[in-house]
Order: sequence, then C-alpha cells, then structure tokens
Amino acid sequence: MEIDSSLPLEKVLSSLIDIDLPLVSNLSNLSRFLFDYFKGTSWAGFYLADENNNLYLGPFQGPLACTRIPLGKGVCGTSALRKEAILVGDVNKFPGHIACSSLSRSEMVCPIISNDKVVCIIDLDSNDYNNFSEDDINRLKLVASIVSKLFI
Ligand code: SME
Repeated sequence: MEIDSSLPLEKVLSSLIDIDLPLVSNLSNLSRFLFDYFKGTSWAGFYLADENNNLYLGPFQGPLACTRIPLGKGVCGTSALRKEAILVGDVNKFPGHIACSSLSRSEMVCPIISNDKVVCIIDLDSNDYNNFSEDDINRLKLVASIVSKLFI
C-alpha cells in the first residue's frame, strides 16, 4: 500500500483510515504513517486509555516501550490528565518524563478525545532535541481530531 504524503494531511488520512476495520488495524497503519510523516521520529504510537484513564500500550513503531502509564505520570499521563497536547523540546526538562528509551531527547503528545473523554494518546519521540515544532503539534492535533471518529 502506497500513500502520497504530499497530499493535504486530511486527504492522506482519509485514504489511510477505513472506519469499517477493527481499531487495531487502523492504529497500526497510522503508527507507521506518523513515524514516516514527522521527520526525525524515533518512536510513534498510541497509548489507549482504560476506564480509569490509565494508559496501556497500543500499536507503535520503534523500540520496545513502557506498557502502562498511570494517569498524571510522564508526558503521556500528564497530557491525558490535562486533556491537552504537550510539546517537549528537551525531555530532561520535563519533570517525571518516562524514558522508555534512554536515547529519547524530545517528544510531542496529543490526546484523542471522544465524548469529552480521553480515549487515547498519540505519542511521538525523537532522539534529537527540539525535533518537533509548533506546526508539527498543530498537525498532530488535526490527526487526533480525525482519528477520534474511530472511537465513537
Ligand atoms: N516518554 C513517555 C513515555 C512513553 S515512551 O516515550 C514511548 C512519557 O513520558 O509519557
């Protein structure tokens, strides 16, 4: 399957996402798409929220990762608690950052919200400082809003 990443993000995502497929299939391909789309990414994937908003590992691309993140912990758990996207230029400066990989230097995270609840977190890491820009996190918010329809 080939994706033309030069098309607008909405178009690329609509060609990639198939609402009739199981969630795991869509998130699997999306994790690879995000890994390639945001340059310099070392890890891209999803943490799914359980009924207490604790997060567990979903489909991803990259090195092995932490399987559970409590609400409020790390960048992902903080994003889930605050219901907001977080851009971290230097993970050493984010108190409580969870280093799944010791090589990770920067990160961006965005919650997927459905019916006012955080259902999932999208997480991207890079081995370079300040890899992700404000523009990138705005794109990631667009991804999150489009992907949220898979959780209805
Ligand atoms: N760094 C994240 C943990 C997940 S891994 O980066 C894949 C955090 O602090 O929440």
